[in-house]
Amino acid sequence: MAHRITLIPGDGIGPEITGAVVRIIEAAGVDIEWDSFVAGAEALSRYGDPLPDPVLDSIRQNRVALKGPLTTPVGTGFASVNVRLRKTLDLYANLRPVHTLPGIVTPFGELDLVVVRENTEDLYSGLEHVVVPGVVESLKIITERASTRIARFAFDYARSEGRKRVTAIHKANIMKLSDGLFLDCFRKVATDYPEIKADDMIVDNTCMQLVMRPQQFDILLLENLYGDIVSDLAAGLVGGLGIVPGANIGELGAVFEAVHGSAPDIAGKNMANPTALLQSSILMLRHIGERRAADLIHGALIHTLREKHVRTRDLGGAASTTEYTEAIVASMRELAG
Ligand code: NAI
Repeated sequence: MAHRITLIPGDGIGPEITGAVVRIIEAAGVDIEWDSFVAGAEALSRYGDPLPDPVLDSIRQNRVALKGPLTTPVGTGFASVNVRLRKTLDLYANLRPVHTLPGIVTPFGELDLVVVRENTEDLYSGLEHVVVPGVVESLKIITERASTRIARFAFDYARSEGRKRVTAIHKANIMKLSDGLFLDCFRKVATDYPEIKADDMIVDNTCMQLVMRPQQFDILLLENLYGDIVSDLAAGLVGGLGIVPGANIGELGAVFEAVHGSAPDIAGKNMANPTALLQSSILMLRHIGERRAADLIHGALIHTLREKHVRTRDLGGAASTTEYTEAIVASMRELAG
């Protein structure tokens, strides 16, 4: 039976990279009916809203979406579409696997770790006010419910992906109540997963350890703000936002996306690198149970970079988006025999 998936091609390079990814998924033989929607800057100019209701309705119905980058309209009074999507659909888990790709050399060696970030609360609750002129209070909200469900998500993910260790990252030595609650919930949940090692580390030390000995980590579990910062740091260890995937997952649905923006400087030039979105689509295929296709595409990506040395310009190669896409499709056919 065909999967029905909401597709948001997005702005700037969005249509080029989503086109590439759809082509590769179809070549892998996965049967998907795409419900395609406009969002972002184009939707704002067409419908007066960067995130029209039919887009949300479609994701609610299909429960899975693949999203290209969206230009955030500046000075329009509309909140970021990405933030609205997360809030409206309660996509509480941000998942960012970070692993080395062949041919992308960094000073940090071979890496394979996963950052799990709580997406709905902490200092991102937007609760700020002026107490008296010159004094501002910004509220950090941590709840037992959100901390428990994100811990459970991290351990379930560890179990389903055969990972061995989850490390909770915190600053409970200073924020004894808020980060203390996050850590308590983590420890309680951990008792249900005796086969997975559970430990914790203070966030500032974690940043140093990530740069000095990143291979020690497996899954890192963080609150919203620490997760925002540490996930970009981790992406930098393997070559940056242009290659790492991202997913926002909740009970009502899951949105898979690249973490980079709409790159207006190279839009329409057949120069964009679809790797980040392709890696996000591999996560999506695993999420919908298409593991064989996910493994095939992942293998073809590695083969294309390692054996064929085909790369887009941002990675020091000369291939256009189309040439790179076709090289991955050809690799897939070779690997599939
Ligand atoms: P950006 O990520 O779009 O571009 C930064 C630099 O990286 C540019 O030189 C661009 O050419 C390059 N780049 C980015 N992705 C690339 C790719 N796949 N292949 C080759 N080169 C790539 O960041 P910028 O310029 O700050 O943002 C542009 C727009 O994107 C803004 O409106 C911003 O709000 C939006 N944005 C959207 C995001 C999303 O929808 N998830 C995330 C970040 C920014």
